[in-house]
Amino acid sequence: MTTAPGRAALSLPSTVPLFLNRWSPRAFIDAPMSHDELTAILEAARWAPSAYNSQPWRFLCARRGTPEWENFLSWLVPFNQSWAGKASVLIYVASRTVMLSPSGNLVPATTHEFDAGAAAMLLQLQAAHLGWATHAMSGFDVDAAHKGLAAPEDFRIHAAIAIGKQGPSDMLPEGLRPRETPSDRAPLATLAWEGTFEGHNEP
Ligand SMILES: Cc1cc2nc3c(=O)[nH]c(=O)nc-3n(C[C@H](O)[C@H](O)[C@H](O)COP(=O)(O)O)c2cc1C
Repeated sequence: MTTAPGRAALSLPSTVPLFLNRWSPRAFIDAPMSHDELTAILEAARWAPSAYNSQPWRFLCARRGTPEWENFLSWLVPFNQSWAGKASVLIYVASRTVMLSPSGNLVPATTHEFDAGAAAMLLQLQAAHLGWATHAMSGFDVDAAHKGLAAPEDFRIHAAIAIGKQGPSDMLPEGLRPRETPSDRAPLATLAWEGTFEGHNEP
């Protein structure tokens, strides 16, 4: 599990510490994850809300040391491969672009991405709760992953998530070490307010 003690002072006392302590490291130590541990993490995602309770998310997993691992790793861009190869698990997050309507027809699932994001976040928070660190990635070859995962045409692959036990930053190449620290966020007033967009100009 990551910690970010400095973030408490940048937030409100009411913010759940688990949310503030989660950040995305790249230094992972050699720590195999058991099938049961992975199941405990995935189970949390199952309870995410979704439009019409359609549950469009799918999580395709490979644990390091299993036959699928090298393929899953190979779809990441080289930069992400350089550190994610030490993680314990790689998970590709997919969702179905269509869903069955009450009348039994396939109709566009307009919120499948929103729903998959919610489920992916529960998964990551559950992992943090169980002492694991997670790092989401959009840096991967979408077509190669889609093909390699044998994903049906009506599925999109959104992101990969590396999960592992956090290690010391000095195990990373020198260039990555300064980035191995919790980041800050934009002020709340620039992200959320009462009322419309009127008077709020994006930079
Ligand atoms: C959808 C998504 C895609 C991301 N893609 C990458 C990536 O390809 N490589 C990487 O090193 N980090 C990636 N990140 C990590 C973000 O840079 C990181 O979450 C963000 O800077 C906030 O930092 P924190 O998670 O440490 O709080 C991604 C995060 C998300 C949510």
